[in-house]
Amino acid sequence: MRGTEKSIDELRETLIQYRELDNSRALSLPGCFYTQQNFLDDEIENLLRREWLCLGRVDEIGNPGDYFTVDFLDEPLLVVRGDDNRIRVLSNVCRHRGMLVAEGAGRKRTFVCPYHGWTYKLDGWLAGAPRMQSQPEFDSKCRLPSLNSEIWQGFIFVNFDQSAAPLAPRLTGLDAVLNHYHTDTMHWIFSREEVWDSNWKCLVENFMEGYHLSIVHPKTLGDLTPTALCKKIDGGEAYTGYRAHYPESAPPRDAHHPDLTPAESRCSVLFSVFPCLVASQSPDILVYLSLQPEGVDKVRIRWGGATYRADLTQPEIDAYIDKWNAINGEDKEKLSRVQRGIGSRFSTPGPLAPEDYEGTIWDFYQYLASRLTERSAV
Ligand code: FES
Ligand SMILES: [Fe+2]
Repeated sequence: MRGTEKSIDELRETLIQYRELDNSRALSLPGCFYTQQNFLDDEIENLLRREWLCLGRVDEIGNPGDYFTVDFLDEPLLVVRGDDNRIRVLSNVCRHRGMLVAEGAGRKRTFVCPYHGWTYKLDGWLAGAPRMQSQPEFDSKCRLPSLNSEIWQGFIFVNFDQSAAPLAPRLTGLDAVLNHYHTDTMHWIFSREEVWDSNWKCLVENFMEGYHLSIVHPKTLGDLTPTALCKKIDGGEAYTGYRAHYPESAPPRDAHHPDLTPAESRCSVLFSVFPCLVASQSPDILVYLSLQPEGVDKVRIRWGGATYRADLTQPEIDAYIDKWNAINGEDKEKLSRVQRGIGSRFSTPGPLAPEDYEGTIWDFYQYLASRLTERSAV
């Protein structure tokens, strides 16, 4: 850390000032918000552990017994579809002596802890524990804790706060924008994990602004989604987004839902469900990135895609992945250099571009400021 580290109180004071600033005078946040450990600790404790965090898509685990494991904010989680077809997010920590119960992804009838063989049902309840019946203190009615979870538009969300208000009512405005795309029934085709050299918020901001599109992606996106045709949508309490319209010269997209209007079939909706999900909903494909910080200058990304068509061949899937790998690669390289820049003692907040290009970043700041300053007062 260069220079003098600001205290949490000083940082919150800045956030309060940003809440009061008119959006015509919108500024980027000072670099310390992206480089200081004390602010990241505050974000984790007072924001991320209390908010809805995306883990993946429902059809990654399409059948009873299908599961995947994921670590989120250092919590090992087991995401599984039960015999009742319900998706649960369970703690992946054995109730005996803390072993991780499951690894990777797959399909099982029960989960057998690989350490001493305690066996759990798909809903997390203990089904058996070898040689434990003669142990007087043993309570056979125990389970892997089941976390607060919710499905929205085919995404699986978890909230570490068991008393958190539901997510969906906060997103009705975004539902209206996505309605004809039928995001909830898009067919999952892949998911991957990566770590980028960037503060997690820089990636949210980067994904959510169209200002850089024509500069950073001239080869991968060409003129498909030029900056000049970006139009912000009205943000809500927990989301923001914009439409990236295609120019007349852009070729038509692959097959898409007949409900789409002609205008909707010629634009992509880029949206964020704050704080950690960013996504691009095109007529033919949904690409989403679920983010979690891994230090002030590293972000772990679980990203994937889902398509309108259910019958894609592997080469067609690979072509989508290659395209998005190339786009992400361009952003990744820029963001690693932004991270170096904002750590400089000469870095200062700069004016944000007009509403249609960077107004989404301002929405994100307003969300951060309201969550972090309201909760700090509790
Ligand atoms: S730690 Fe799981 S059975 Fe012992
Ligand atoms: Fe980009």
